[in-house]
Amino acid sequence: MPDGTVIEQFCLTNNQGVSLEILSLGGIIRRWLIPHNAKPPTDIVLGFDSVQAYLSDDSYLGALVGRYANRIAEGKLCLESKNYQLDINQGDNCLHGGSQGFNNKVWQSTVLSRDENPAIALQLESPDGDQGFPGALSTKVIYTLTESNRLKIEYFATSKRTTVFNPTNHSYFNLSGHNSGSVNNQHIQVVASYYTPTDAHAIPTGELIKVEGTPFDFRKLSTIEQALTSAHPQIQYGNGLDHNLCIDSYDPQSQEAKYAAKATSENTDISLKVYTTMPGIQVFTANHFDHKKGKQDSLYHAHQGLCFETQFYPDSPNQPQFPSATLKAGEAFYSVTEYEVLF
Ligand code: GAL
Repeated sequence: MPDGTVIEQFCLTNNQGVSLEILSLGGIIRRWLIPHNAKPPTDIVLGFDSVQAYLSDDSYLGALVGRYANRIAEGKLCLESKNYQLDINQGDNCLHGGSQGFNNKVWQSTVLSRDENPAIALQLESPDGDQGFPGALSTKVIYTLTESNRLKIEYFATSKRTTVFNPTNHSYFNLSGHNSGSVNNQHIQVVASYYTPTDAHAIPTGELIKVEGTPFDFRKLSTIEQALTSAHPQIQYGNGLDHNLCIDSYDPQSQEAKYAAKATSENTDISLKVYTTMPGIQVFTANHFDHKKGKQDSLYHAHQGLCFETQFYPDSPNQPQFPSATLKAGEAFYSVTEYEVLF
């Protein structure tokens, strides 16, 4: 790091030959290699080659995001009758926890398992008032690569004062390989009957709208392209998919990750399945990428990656009808998202 702090890189490899590289900087997933019998492995996530590139980019490639994934309108938060002003870092809004979010922090790391199901824990203390959020927050994320090819990401937190908490991982997947061009021809499924439409600045209007008859109907496996080429105003706002879908299987009482989404590439026959305890999933297609210089001299263009960011709905602190991201003082937060690779 510029201040001399050393960043560690961990490599989680299972007996099936799946291998992940994770940095203590932002918990960034830098590589995710899927083996092939004959050919070199396919790296299914976008990333950079240097720390400097991660620090100077604002697209959260592979990173842990917090304290609050996605946007809070005008950075305004009211909790227990107190108003808080959060850091404004995109337009008029607070995006992904503010300009010095979890993605920019070096986390304390511990190796939990070196053998089967390799696992690491990353811990971070976020002080009271960090980016404007109330409450000293202790958070821990455990990454486990299972022998059944799932990357399990468990999020834990407690806060000294009542606050909001909405962590995610912001990996950009490309199941044909990180440098293989656009994801347009890949297929996705999202088990969601409703989505949360936004205004032109990606702030939810507050409505839940049925996906039926819209480009957001991914209940049956369909190409990403059918949505990207739609003339629907919601797609035009951001040059592609950048929307929160409401996961049908969400159960606020359950700590068991349930199936929510899938993506698949016919080129490589690699599929990804997403299981989560969270109520929403931001489906984002890297709409603003424009010759971004990525790993190994690759150039990333618009629609070259697909994010499945599990989350509370964007701006939920200002939308009382959305599931609540409030974390009460002293209570324990737990969520889990699992990404399973099939090949
Ligand atoms: C997404 C968000 C996008 C964009 C991206 C980061 O989660 O929905 O609008 O900000 O992160 O580049």
